[in-house]
Amino acid sequence: MASNSVVSAPVYSDTVVRGFALVAVLYGIVGMLVGVIIAAELAWPDMLAGIPWLSYGRLRPLHTNAVIFAFGGSVLFATSYHVVQRTCQTRLFMPALAMFTFIGWNLVVVAAVVTLPLGFTQGKEYAELEWPIDLLIAVVWVSYAIVFFGTVGTRKIRHIYVANWFFGAFIIAVALLHIVNSAAIPVSLTKSYSAYAGVQDAMVQWWYGHNAVGFFLTAGFLGIMYYYIPKQAGRPVYSYRLSIVHFWALIFTYMWAGPHHLHYTALPDWAQSVGMIFSLVLLAPSWGGMINGIMTLSGAWHKLRDDPILKFLIVSLSFYGMSTFEGPMMSIKTVNALSHYTDWTVGHVHSGALGWVGLISMGALYHLIPKMFGREKMYSTRAIELHFWIATIGIVLYIAAMWIAGVMQGLMWRAVNPDGTLVYSFVESVKATYPFYVIRLGGGLLYLTGMLIMGWNTVKTVMAGKAVEARIPLVMAHA
Ligand code: HEM
Ligand code: HEM
Repeated sequence: MASNSVVSAPVYSDTVVRGFALVAVLYGIVGMLVGVIIAAELAWPDMLAGIPWLSYGRLRPLHTNAVIFAFGGSVLFATSYHVVQRTCQTRLFMPALAMFTFIGWNLVVVAAVVTLPLGFTQGKEYAELEWPIDLLIAVVWVSYAIVFFGTVGTRKIRHIYVANWFFGAFIIAVALLHIVNSAAIPVSLTKSYSAYAGVQDAMVQWWYGHNAVGFFLTAGFLGIMYYYIPKQAGRPVYSYRLSIVHFWALIFTYMWAGPHHLHYTALPDWAQSVGMIFSLVLLAPSWGGMINGIMTLSGAWHKLRDDPILKFLIVSLSFYGMSTFEGPMMSIKTVNALSHYTDWTVGHVHSGALGWVGLISMGALYHLIPKMFGREKMYSTRAIELHFWIATIGIVLYIAAMWIAGVMQGLMWRAVNPDGTLVYSFVESVKATYPFYVIRLGGGLLYLTGMLIMGWNTVKTVMAGKAVEARIPLVMAHA
């Protein structure tokens, strides 16, 4: 056993971690508020009639961009910068460049908030932002890669912890996806046309779209799981070997599953089948990862009783397991024939988004924020507990309403009379969906309320603490 003396000298570069963690909370509130507004617009379409920039078509992409890129992205920046320093025992490579990523990413968010409600869009889902903003994203992302891999490259310990593998894959894959899918020919400052046409355009878009789920909403957050669950539980990762198999299996498989978004389209049938098969295979690595995360608690299950942060982290994995079971099922062509175009898809999306991405983000932020401000824990633990229960009930209401609505819509649309005519008109299916839209709105309001509680708790924590400069231990203390 080596010495357990800790000699301290330089400090970690945490200013940027603090910045991203705080804006993540703010963007979470804003993005979810816009989600609640569009959920209300679906229930009462005339609600904001006559105000073009508040119309459903403009606010919907604002919601998806705000929750995925502003909220999720800031969580990923904050946690990856935090984790890479601690696991490499060194400060960030080029802290000024890291600061540039903070400013640049926030500029992207502001640009999105201005341009999307004005109606400027490339019309590609999750890649709506026009070409000048795309260029800024590319510059920020390349800078992010330099900071992250530079830090790994200058690490003080030989081993590269598995969380960094996931963060690294997420950074490389997102750079590739963004640059390839955003290739476009500009005709003016606010208008461009995709460099691809027809079914190739669709395939490139859903290769991007699916891997945005796989790498942005999954691999990055798995990096979070591999660091924050062991830390919060005070236990080592259940199986380090499994984590390596999990990593390679997941990143290899995700890349091929995109065509499941294009079933029964002009895409060649064989490509659709390849997408379906890889989606089914994807169940295995996804569940392997989930089991590895949950089993990290083995021997410490009792901690779940009084630690609400662990509840966030572990329940997020249950939703991850649920959505990665549902996804492969929905990729089966015959199931997709029922689910596609219905609210079932929206239910699936939000069991992943609210349940997995949302809860794990909140858990990680609750762990991280007090540390960044020199406090043992958040200002109010009871508020964390309250947040957890409100959010969980909100998710269940949201996704159950969408499942019922989705299956109902699918069945109504395919019901035919003996003479071949449709049993129901489309409008009848919209009318039948109305109560479920109202229930979904209720679920969304609960989820947003939880996020507001988090906002209050964060402000109180920051006010009661102060930004601390954590020292880098030069000699590791070995247990
Ligand atoms: C208060 C919480 C939220 C509410 C009320 C909400 C509501 C909505 C609504 C009404 C839609 C449009 C559905 C449709 O077109 O029929 C939507 C779409 C979407 N939301 Fe949310 N949302 C919330 C949180 C989130 C979060 C946290 C994420 C991601 C981390 C997210 C990701 C998405 C995505 C990806 C879509 C597009 C789904 C698709 O195209 O199938 N949402 N949301
Ligand atoms: C094994 C993992 C998964 C598989 C195989 C899978 C599969 C699918 C399938 C088949 C669809 C429906 C495509 C359609 O009919 O248009 C879908 C939609 C979607 N899934 Fe998943 N899913 C998985 C995990 C997840 C997770 C964990 C999340 C969120 C964190 C997620 C987010 C989405 C989104 C945002 C869409 C809607 C895309 C759109 O049309 O805008 N998925 N997924």
